[in-house]
Amino acid sequence: MRILHVVGARPNFMKAAPIIREMAKFQGEFEQQLLHTGQHYALEMSKVFFDELGLPKPDVNLEVGSGSHAWQTAQIMTRSEPVLLAYQPDWVVVYGDVNSTVALTLVCSKLGIEVAHVEAGLRSFDRSMPEEINRLITDQIAELLFTPSEDADINLTREGVARERIHLVGNVMIDTLVDLLPKAEEKWLDVKGRFPFEKYILVTLHRPSNVDHADTLSQIMSALAEISLEVPTIFPVHPRTKESLDKFGIVHDNPQLHLIEPLGYLEFLALQVHASLVLTDSGGIQEETTYLGIPCLTARANTERPVTINLGTNQLVGSSKELLLSAMRKKLSEPKPQGKLPPSWDGHTAQRVVEVFKQL
Ligand code: UD1
Repeated sequence: MRILHVVGARPNFMKAAPIIREMAKFQGEFEQQLLHTGQHYALEMSKVFFDELGLPKPDVNLEVGSGSHAWQTAQIMTRSEPVLLAYQPDWVVVYGDVNSTVALTLVCSKLGIEVAHVEAGLRSFDRSMPEEINRLITDQIAELLFTPSEDADINLTREGVARERIHLVGNVMIDTLVDLLPKAEEKWLDVKGRFPFEKYILVTLHRPSNVDHADTLSQIMSALAEISLEVPTIFPVHPRTKESLDKFGIVHDNPQLHLIEPLGYLEFLALQVHASLVLTDSGGIQEETTYLGIPCLTARANTERPVTINLGTNQLVGSSKELLLSAMRKKLSEPKPQGKLPPSWDGHTAQRVVEVFKQL
């Protein structure tokens, strides 16, 4: 069976790596190629992950880069079509909810190539989020839907997706986490040398709803500047957020608020493991903190990952300064939450995915 895996943006890399590695164990059954759309292209957003996750060098890189959503999606579609026609895969595997995911799904559907979606069925029910549109369209078109949790199955069934297309396999990102946790702990000594704090808050923010508007971003940054006077705060800044901070002229010179370059997978994981609190708007980090049992506040009004709230350590907090500050102070003063692991978040999701392919 000829498989083409598609990655494009940072959160795709840790989802594809375990599946590619698992399929490689069955050489006679699978021939694999890896296509990188180049949606993320900077060293710290892409290459460092290939190195740390042991991903093979992409067979094709479309080198699309940044642009408006329509432009980026259209470029990925136009540039991937000849690749698909030349390689003629039996299955294309797409990951997550980024523009690369939906673009390839659309192209494949017109060429009659079957698509499998890993991380299907998640819904925030907020159609102002570009990722929600990507998720809805991808799941309507893809033939095989691999879901991380039961809520995803319920969403898909409600949308009329046939039961036999859905496979509840668990969370493949947790496979990567389980696999690389020992290496991340080895990195901890270096990381601790750089940030020698007893307690610290770890922050990531890049959602358009938080960083594209001057007022919202100012409120968030002002909350961070204030809380960091109490607990040092480490904030690896996503390129989109950096652009906004520069554009809006938002500056914070509090020495306890550490605005740093985006980190690689291992360093960031080490920082999550040892954090007192994580504040984020990322989907993946809500899941990783749930697995690690680290308290997490999500600066959003909704989440497509409700299991991280119902079972895990996550709590929605919104993005206003007052709400952020009071929630952070409360979390820092409470004992560590006792979350539960969602079923099948056990480090063996890739095996279950590959088993489904073997049965086809
Ligand atoms: C994308 C995904 C989002 C995911 C996030 C993880 C979509 C719609 N969004 O958002 O779901 O959570 O990636 O990072 O697909 N940039 C660089 N270097 C890079 C990549 C981006 O400087 O390597 C800058 C560019 O200026 C660009 C901006 O970041 O304009 C945004 O990049 P883009 O890929 O369009 O979306 P993200 O906000 O990263």
